[in-house]
Amino acid sequence: LSSALEALPPPRPQILYLCSEPPVPGAEVLLGAISAASPEPLPQRPRSAPGGGDIALHIYTSGTTGLPKAAVITERKLLAAASLARLCGVRPQDVVYTPLPLYHAAGLMVGLGGCIEIGATCVLRSKFSASHFWDDCRRYNVTVIQYVGELLRYLCQSPQRPNDRDHRVRLALGNGLRGDVWKRFLDRFGPISIREFYGATEGNGGFINYTGKIGAVGRANMFIKYFAPFELIKYNVDKEEPVRDERGLCIPVGPGETGLLVTKITKEAPFYGYAGDPMETEQKILRNVLVHGDAFFNSGDLLMMDHEKFLYFQDRVGDTFRWKGENVATTEVEAALAMVDFIQQVNVYGVSVPGCEGRCGMAAMCLKPGHSFDGQKLYSFVEDVLPGYAAPQFLRVQNALEITATFKQRKSHLVTEGFDPHVIRDPLFFRHKQAKAYVPLTPELHARILDTALAL
Ligand SMILES: *[C@@H]1O[C@H](CO)[C@@H](O)[C@H](O)[C@H]1NC(C)=O
Ligand SMILES: *[C@@H]1O[C@H](CO)[C@@H](O)[C@H](O)[C@H]1NC(C)=O
Repeated sequence: LSSALEALPPPRPQILYLCSEPPVPGAEVLLGAISAASPEPLPQRPRSAPGGGDIALHIYTSGTTGLPKAAVITERKLLAAASLARLCGVRPQDVVYTPLPLYHAAGLMVGLGGCIEIGATCVLRSKFSASHFWDDCRRYNVTVIQYVGELLRYLCQSPQRPNDRDHRVRLALGNGLRGDVWKRFLDRFGPISIREFYGATEGNGGFINYTGKIGAVGRANMFIKYFAPFELIKYNVDKEEPVRDERGLCIPVGPGETGLLVTKITKEAPFYGYAGDPMETEQKILRNVLVHGDAFFNSGDLLMMDHEKFLYFQDRVGDTFRWKGENVATTEVEAALAMVDFIQQVNVYGVSVPGCEGRCGMAAMCLKPGHSFDGQKLYSFVEDVLPGYAAPQFLRVQNALEITATFKQRKSHLVTEGFDPHVIRDPLFFRHKQAKAYVPLTPELHARILDTALAL
């Protein structure tokens, strides 16, 4: 910040810090101002000034696939997100525990915002800690917890304790929970109602799994269809664009087929876009979807709807890749590898191999403490549970996986670094079909793969 401040032309922006001593010259401190502020309610006039369309705040998107963008959050959108907690069943007498960062939508708008909207109590923790989680819940009589999927995975991975079921938590709200973790979580910590919801910070629609069907993010019904009409449309993973018919319109997928989720932009479901470059906003809008002249918010997510209209999240658009003519959903491969006993965490992505079409599967992983990598065992496991095209050809063993502040895994730099043993310091392995094992990827092996002397 100090070096950036020097480079900025005047007028310099105002920098406020939540502390009592300014950490960089030129910054102002907020804590003093807060304690000096009057506890009296604001007078009517400034409170009544903003309308629903006014900007309440900007929230940066988490940046799993690119640089974070500042999503525009209006007063109306803030209220809508805050009401999610009520829709999920949070009541005024509840105590809601939020260990998520407040600079993202889930923690700030649904968690803290939801508590204010309902009049419930909010317990904040500045940083999630698996070892303190249940102690905090007991100490503060927590009845509702907020999660992202990875967070519940960490809780399931922490050592068992005799008092694991000694708590008053009745409800968990969040998103990104996978079926395997869901089951383990309930088996271990007791009957807690789980409300999965799906939505993007800047999105104009969303779903809640109010039915409790494991694995589903929600269910289509006439209300959703009316208030936030969405479609799942055919998507070409290779070209990274929707498939269009001879009229230039998109093609809805049938039940059981995976498609790109797009939500119609209407007066009731507006898309406010991002602050700054209008191009960024335009890039999220898909036009001429069902009829010429319409506009939809492009979620960038691939979902599937079954015959009973339950919706299932499949993958992020940039994450699904194509190999040997098949679509590989990284989340599915990750869920399979997560069952291997020596793997703690895994992140799957596709890398380009010279001379090969599409992208080839690679998995970065970190191992459980006290376990070692077993290339033979992993090979036969992968052969048993994954189709050949989905089996990762390359592995990269890391000490820790890089995640964003909302516990999403970063992929882009892993994709860029690829599988070159001359560049990467981490141990690399290659799926060797003759040896029936994942073997160390030596510079010689690497050269043979590039010569396409080794069939992938
Ligand atoms: C939690 O509940 C117990 C029993 O109802 C009560 O004695 C205690 O004061 C509560 N703790 C907090 C932090 O509210
Ligand atoms: C929806 O909720 C039910 C029960 O609460 C759960 O079993 C199911 O896994 C959920 N589906 C998803 C996709 O989260």
